[in-house]
Amino acid sequence: MILRPVRDSAADAAAVRAVANAAFDALRRSLGEEPAEPTPAFVAVADIRTRHLAVTDPGGCWLAEKDGRPIGTALALRREGLWALSLFCVVPEEQGKGVGRLLLDHAVAYGRGCLRGMIAVSADPVAARRYQAAGFTLHPAMELTGQVDLAALPDPGGIPVHLGDAAHLALLDSVDRRIRGGAHGPDHPVLLRTCDELLVADTLTGSGYCYRTEGRIVLLAATSRRLASRLLTEALTRIPAGTKARLANITAEQDWAVSVGMAGGLSVHNRGYLALRGMRPPAPYLPSGAYL
Ligand SMILES: CC(C)(COP(=O)(O)OP(=O)(O)OC[C@H]1O[C@@H](n2cnc3c(N)ncnc32)[C@H](O)[C@@H]1OP(=O)(O)O)[C@@H](O)C(=O)NCCC(=O)NCCS
Repeated sequence: MILRPVRDSAADAAAVRAVANAAFDALRRSLGEEPAEPTPAFVAVADIRTRHLAVTDPGGCWLAEKDGRPIGTALALRREGLWALSLFCVVPEEQGKGVGRLLLDHAVAYGRGCLRGMIAVSADPVAARRYQAAGFTLHPAMELTGQVDLAALPDPGGIPVHLGDAAHLALLDSVDRRIRGGAHGPDHPVLLRTCDELLVADTLTGSGYCYRTEGRIVLLAATSRRLASRLLTEALTRIPAGTKARLANITAEQDWAVSVGMAGGLSVHNRGYLALRGMRPPAPYLPSGAYL
């Protein structure tokens, strides 16, 4: 088995995707869930993520190969003193043999010098074990899903929310620095490209933003709970009719999100953890799985 850096190529993006599909399909089966057939849009976004991180973080992106076949991968990023893990998986037939430990050691070593670390942890107890062993604190997380009951959503109040674009990058980075101690920087243009829309609130008393794709709230950050609730409410009202809403990686600190989601008729479930090092769960914040 060899470990090598992930390259910015279609072949490496496909290799990372093949490993991830096999590992997460097996995890879903073990949880009694149906494996999801990746849509063309999902494949495109996954490959964009891999190739983007291979360029921005070549020292954090690793592929394990055995006899020329990809068997595991870890994609990590560093943003202004914040280290995050975007992807970590090993194909089912090679799990439990130490491949994950080796990959995570390399990804974590890339974060040396970063005071803060963040991982959105799956429901796999083996992943939780690896992260705890790597010095991360596990914060239990919730997921809110279901059809939005538009009539039941709280009155959005008077805070104006509008569509955002590349002209707002400085504002987005400022909110990130205040809320999680590090800007998303080069990840924002990728999120803009791959998400359906960006919503922005920028008032005299605070600012915030929210990325949404179909029913998924991808990432939300705001300088107050009031603004965060307003952005989330607006994002939920914009989900196409008949599409299931999904918000994930919600810790107890994000009770504002649980309140909005429950008011809008969504159901809450425990799912995975937010694993953190050197920081408390950022709030008001809903981290993305891919760029945290
Ligand atoms: C998480 C994952 C990458 C780990 O890779 P791996 O190669 O199996 O990991 P390793 O062999 O290095 O380590 C497995 C560890 O789990 C332990 N383990 C095995 N079964 C376990 C179980 N049911 N519960 C808890 N720990 C378990 C092993 O003892 C070993 O720990 P140790 O090294 O301290 O003895 C892999 O299991 C995977 O792809 N899971 C599905 C995808 C996923 O959820 N990824 C994480 C996303 S956040």
